[in-house]
Amino acid sequence: MSESIPDPLSLSELDGTPPVGSLICRLDELPSHGGKEIIFVEGRYRTSIFVQKTGDFVAVFLNHCPHAGTPLNMFGDRFLDMRGQNILCRTHGATFDRKNGVCIAGPCKGRYLRPIAHRVENGEIFSI
Ligand code: FES
Repeated sequence: MSESIPDPLSLSELDGTPPVGSLICRLDELPSHGGKEIIFVEGRYRTSIFVQKTGDFVAVFLNHCPHAGTPLNMFGDRFLDMRGQNILCRTHGATFDRKNGVCIAGPCKGRYLRPIAHRVENGEIFSI
């Protein structure tokens, strides 16, 4: 199954997330492997997104696998496979391109992680 790249989702479209223009994280907070989970909790709402930096390229995705809807990470900020090449879903092993989020291999091949709209300015990532 193949689909087109989904439009970036604004955090403001999700329940319990901060308003447009909010700081998501600072680049110097990212570990050397470039991944970081960000969790927003407000009342009964909980939203998990993650940042994956590759060189100067910063991607932000909803932490929700298109196969069965689970978070990609089991825990912590590691989203890449053992070789540090692709994003890995820990549930059934799907792998995703870490820049555009397309599933390269696995049960949801051809589908995409949902990108989160953001901008990077002065070493900080903001929601848009
Ligand atoms: S839930 Fe991610 S591969 Fe199945």
